[in-house]
Amino acid sequence: MSPAALRQRLSPGALLRRLLAARGSIQTPVATEWRASLTAIDETRRRTALLMNDAAALQIQICVAAARRLPGEMAEAGVLTGGSARLICEAKGQTPLHLFDVFETLQEDGTVDAEAAVVRAHFGAVHGQRIQVERLLAGYPAVMLHPGLFPRSAAGLEALRFSFVHLDLDLPKGTREGLAFFYPRLSPGGMLIGDDYGDPGVRGVFADYFADRPDTVIALPWGQVLIVKQGEG
Ligand SMILES: C[S@@+](CC[C@H](N)C(=O)[O-])C[C@H]1O[C@@H](n2cnc3c(N)ncnc32)[C@H](O)[C@@H]1O
Repeated sequence: MSPAALRQRLSPGALLRRLLAARGSIQTPVATEWRASLTAIDETRRRTALLMNDAAALQIQICVAAARRLPGEMAEAGVLTGGSARLICEAKGQTPLHLFDVFETLQEDGTVDAEAAVVRAHFGAVHGQRIQVERLLAGYPAVMLHPGLFPRSAAGLEALRFSFVHLDLDLPKGTREGLAFFYPRLSPGGMLIGDDYGDPGVRGVFADYFADRPDTVIALPWGQVLIVKQGEG
């Protein structure tokens, strides 16, 4: 090995890279134009819970920024305390954003039916509060909250079209229902990011749904899947 190659191999950057790779991680500089997004992620973590790593958080902002030039509105199903919704808001500009979550409606309603009981059993008392999310997102334009059990909470919104959707309902059933509602309403070239792709149940829902569809399905190594809609579908 030449002295230059040896110096390169033993440089602090190379050693750090090898150490991180051995632990299944990477370290990479982010282009100047995305530095503001890193600040937004940091600021969001300071203000509320954000249930994803920085790569996933940055991925959402990258796709939202790209989707701004497409026709359609934006949506998130699975909001909790609004962490990822705030990231979407930071990147969406004036595009309307629809947010779907049970919030505190399951605790309020003593007579939950079987569907609501499944969600309640999975999440227990861990739900975001609508007022908390409204306060967090108060400074952003055109944000609409749709509290209640999805997809019932989307009744009356069938005419909407979407350029970007973040689907983060945790459970395979909610994921299947989310795809059934959002996919036909995605604009050509529109993007849907699914969370929890490491979960075999959720992954199976995507595999089944896109088995006979032409859309591009990109498994991202930080726990998300990205669907890019081809044509009208
Ligand atoms: C993983 S959390 C969302 C985290 C959020 N996207 C973030 O990263 O900050 C999932 C949320 O989906 C909600 N949820 C799950 N199934 C639902 C359904 N069928 N209808 C409405 N909300 C649901 C849960 O109450 C919970 O708040």
